Amino acid sequence: MGKLLVIGDLHGNTGHALALLREAKKQGCDRIFAVGDFGAWEHVPSGRRYFEVVNKAARREGVRVYFLDGNHDKTSLIHELYDEKRDDEGFLTCRSHIRYAPRGHRWTWDDTRFAAFGGAYSVDKQRRLDWEAQRAAKPNERRRYGTSRERVTAGSLWFPEEQMTDAELDALLEADSSPADILFTHDKPRDSHPDFNRKKHPDCLPNQARIQRVVETLHPAVLFHGHLHYRYTDQIWSGEGKPTRVEGLAADPDASPRSDYHRDDSWYLLPLPYSRETAGIPLAAR
Ligand SMILES: [Fe+2]
Ligand SMILES: [Fe+2]
Repeated sequence: MGKLLVIGDLHGNTGHALALLREAKKQGCDRIFAVGDFGAWEHVPSGRRYFEVVNKAARREGVRVYFLDGNHDKTSLIHELYDEKRDDEGFLTCRSHIRYAPRGHRWTWDDTRFAAFGGAYSVDKQRRLDWEAQRAAKPNERRRYGTSRERVTAGSLWFPEEQMTDAELDALLEADSSPADILFTHDKPRDSHPDFNRKKHPDCLPNQARIQRVVETLHPAVLFHGHLHYRYTDQIWSGEGKPTRVEGLAADPDASPRSDYHRDDSWYLLPLPYSRETAGIPLAAR
């Protein structure tokens, strides 16, 4: 029986990433899966350093880190750099211990069928675009990213590929619509209702509807997602009378303005194998 540590948004927060690697080791996990906004910012030096530091720590702890893309990960560059470097399970090998699950990726660990569908809409899209435009007009100015100052140019703060298109999702589901036990997404599905939801903007809804479509096609027992930066559990219906439990995970502390933040809300220990049949589906916890 294996165990997998599922974790929420990291946003390139090295300290939080290292703490969760230690948590994985403590919990006896040799794998972590991050549900987006991981911090894939290899277009800037601090982003590349983050990958190096996380990879080194992961190697030291004997833990492999997998992630899907959030709206704040530069997915186009991940594909450009690593599309040709696929491992035996089809993940893109970014570093020896860091692997990316592209949209629609399917794989099996410990007899458990997984699927990953990244992407989401950025509610601060316009602010990021404005910032890019303002800074492009002042090429000598630098924006502070973590500990370094780096130039802001077009494509460095907002990424046009941030969410799936309907056509992209159609193609992915047409290619494989077989059931999954566990679904990883960055965005929430349309039908889940957290008590706290910072993504109510109307422009967020089309992608939430896409995630709902994925749920109603794959009928997962559990869906894990990030993006809301809020820990909650809910239950939705995936059609055919089958419930899907939804687990929203909290993010790193710097992205969590809530005073009731607890680091333990940013991870979930998933025992494997896990399926609707073997685990039963606990009903909604609230
Ligand atoms: Fe996030
Ligand atoms: Fe996000």
